[in-house]
Amino acid sequence: MALFEVRGLRKAFGRHEVLSGLDIDIFDGEVLTIIGQSGSGKSILLKAMMGLIEVDAGSIRFDGDDVAGQTEQEWNKTRRRIGMLFQESALFDSFTVFENVAYALREQTTMTEDEIAKRVSETLALVALPGIESMSPSDLSGGMRKRVALARAVAVRPEVVFYDEPAEGLDPINVTRVNRLLLGLQERLHVTSVVVTHNLKAAFAISDRLALIDDGVVAATGAPEAILESDDPVVREFIGERMRKVLRAS
Ligand SMILES: Nc1ncnc2c1ncn2[C@@H]1O[C@H](COP(=O)(O)OP(=O)(O)OP(=O)(O)O)[C@@H](O)[C@H]1O
Ligand SMILES: [Mg+2]
Repeated sequence: MALFEVRGLRKAFGRHEVLSGLDIDIFDGEVLTIIGQSGSGKSILLKAMMGLIEVDAGSIRFDGDDVAGQTEQEWNKTRRRIGMLFQESALFDSFTVFENVAYALREQTTMTEDEIAKRVSETLALVALPGIESMSPSDLSGGMRKRVALARAVAVRPEVVFYDEPAEGLDPINVTRVNRLLLGLQERLHVTSVVVTHNLKAAFAISDRLALIDDGVVAATGAPEAILESDDPVVREFIGERMRKVLRAS
């Protein structure tokens, strides 16, 4: 059974239908990367799976429970099991790094101050930023901010982590660093990772499976090699001949 089973998901904004009956399965322990053009609904799908937006139709099963119609209170419980690195990666600038990473621990757990301090320090070490608790987010580089946001997302030790453009706006060295980190967390925390990215090289390098969203539905899913060699015209056009050569060579 899939950890997430999404069926017939629909979401429109006014007359603009973004998701038009989307189906997707996400399996326990995998790295699944969602690709698709800008505006295709990737962020909306993640937000729907976290109950942050209301959908018009369809079902979302998470670990066997139908969560789509849950109340806000029920969603709060479900969300504890999901960590999210938002595309905007907004840290609270008026808080220290410590307060940022401790935020969900305070909100969602009954951990003591000592336990929180220990967890924050362990989690900052996991993202390779040990000892920066007292710094202010505004004094960090873009790459460091992403990693602190990641630490904040995984501090509660979620079962699933959603990454919306984890490497957006980063230089190539930091892109590699964030990707390695993602795989390191995958291994050390035994999570399921759902990644959204425009970086096809990264997507092909880190994923067990890829899903391409086109025209409001999942147009194709498969292992990176299968997607790369797919005859499906939608897949071929999205990847493009030049990128296909680059990916084959890497
Ligand atoms: N609150 C909203 N009100 C109206 N339209 C919205 C809203 N949120 C998203 N949309 C529209 O839904 C569509 C899908 O948005 P979404 O953010 O999911 O795209 P995306 O695939 O994540 O794109 P990108 O790759 O650029 O991040 C877009 O056309 C967007 O304008
Ligand atoms: Mg997006």
